[in-house]
Amino acid sequence: MGKNELRIEHLCKKYHKTETALNDFSYTFTDGIYGLLGPNGAGKTTLMNIITSNIQETSGKILYNGREFSKWGREYKKKIGYMPQNQNVYPEFTLERFLYYMSALKGVDRQQAHRQVTELAGKVNLLQSLHKRLGCFSGGMKQRVMLAQALLGDPEIVILDEPTAGLDPKERIHIRNIISEIALKKIVIVATHVVQDVEVISKEILLMQKGSLLLAEHTDALCEKLQGKVHEIYCAEDELREIEHNYLVENISKSKGKLRVRIVAEKPPEKYISVKAEPSLEDVYLYYFQDR
Ligand SMILES: Nc1ncnc2c1ncn2[C@@H]1O[C@H](COP(=O)(O)OP(=O)(O)OP(=O)(O)O)[C@@H](O)[C@H]1O
Ligand SMILES: [Mg+2]
Repeated sequence: MGKNELRIEHLCKKYHKTETALNDFSYTFTDGIYGLLGPNGAGKTTLMNIITSNIQETSGKILYNGREFSKWGREYKKKIGYMPQNQNVYPEFTLERFLYYMSALKGVDRQQAHRQVTELAGKVNLLQSLHKRLGCFSGGMKQRVMLAQALLGDPEIVILDEPTAGLDPKERIHIRNIISEIALKKIVIVATHVVQDVEVISKEILLMQKGSLLLAEHTDALCEKLQGKVHEIYCAEDELREIEHNYLVENISKSKGKLRVRIVAEKPPEKYISVKAEPSLEDVYLYYFQDR
């Protein structure tokens, strides 16, 4: 069997006839993880909502393995798992009931559901909470519930909209590990503001701005573009304002009584001691979206 392919062609979404949320977006996804990055309002959720058929595109096409998505009919529900940006759990439901309920909505058969409910609860570390009501879950627990429900029915396409929003660092790493595990034979698209969550695990990073696709490349290729442009300079605290005024400052830390300031610039200021730094995806993000 060949690779799965999700092809997006010239997708546009206009709200109220004037607001363009998605502007001629074209891209082809194959098995693997894709990181979707872009500032607030870039169109990430809009794209995901169209792929998952939660909203209707204004124009353009989506094809899955060469066949138009609308022609897959009810089958598409089983092919796609979606973790929406906003948590939408029923507080009265226990985790177990919620997962069975979502399985039924998706058309997952009883036997598979039965096997998966326990398996997925275990995967997201919530086996002990299977019989507790979702209303008592913490934010991080709810995020994990939403990730688990997205994987019901073993979908071929998994769409995750900010899966680590609001999680503590340990939980974030946990979720990131789960994502990298599930991606072997699936198309996984992850929208996030936490650049580190997709930096290493993604096959390609898609940078979106104002509804358009700006760039789509592997992290290494994106970082390569900033080679030689990232510098760490050492200065005194009262010099910081001037630097911030003149340069794109990425990070500030303290080192031996001085401030270490990470900047992205063609040339570092001569006035300070500076060291060239290895570009990261976060540098890339700031560089491209500095004056959005
Ligand atoms: N229901 C709606 N009605 C009108 N405009 C909308 C609607 N939903 C989204 N938009 C607009 O579409 C644009 C893209 O929004 P979208 O939610 O897709 O961005 P995003 O990249 O997901 O942002 P964020 O990072 O904040 O989640 C924004 O300008 C937004 O105001
Ligand atoms: Mg969004």
